[in-house]
Amino acid sequence: MEFFEVLRRRRSVRRFQDKPVPEELVEKLLEAAFLSPSSFNKRPWHFIVVDDKEKLKALSKAKLGASGLATAPLAIVITADESRSDVWIEDASIAAEHIHLASFALGLSSFWVQIRNRVHSEDKTAEDYVRELLNIPENYRVLCIIGIGYPAEKKPPHGDEVFEWEKASKNEFGRPFKP
Ligand SMILES: Cc1cc2nc3c(=O)[nH]c(=O)nc-3n(C[C@H](O)[C@H](O)[C@H](O)COP(=O)(O)O)c2cc1C
Repeated sequence: MEFFEVLRRRRSVRRFQDKPVPEELVEKLLEAAFLSPSSFNKRPWHFIVVDDKEKLKALSKAKLGASGLATAPLAIVITADESRSDVWIEDASIAAEHIHLASFALGLSSFWVQIRNRVHSEDKTAEDYVRELLNIPENYRVLCIIGIGYPAEKKPPHGDEVFEWEKASKNEFGRPFKP
């Protein structure tokens, strides 16, 4: 699929068919992540591929807004070693978006589940919940989870209404890019 078509077609899909993602596509998604740029090329990330149904169900309870993971046949948990990079959030976010976009290019669909800065319950962060569930070492932070699979819902591609030209300036903030 042509790059701009992928960008247009990328929508957050949260319901999936009960159909596994072939291993070669999982590998491609990881390749997309490993092709990400990173500050000083430090590559602080670590990706956890989850296809165990019980674990996916448990991940769907990490926080409000994660329930779509219960029908996903695959999730990739995006973590990064904060002791290796002071901008691990940016590095990990780009890798997550590479996976999100690559899934559409490969005929799959996906959605982003925010974990950092979110809560599981009154006394537990979503990050600690995921850390305990997947045995993630202390120095690795959990940014988000990308839920992936074959879509069970159809969403239209983005239309031209997303082009908010008033949010683009030229040479100075507030001077319209498109007068
Ligand atoms: C940083 C970030 C956090 C998000 N967190 C969640 C989330 O926790 N759960 C969820 O269902 N969608 C989440 N989303 C998806 C957004 O809701 C979605 O991208 C937005 O509504 C636009 O819809 P679209 O992706 O179909 O264009 C998140 C997206 C981003 C970029």
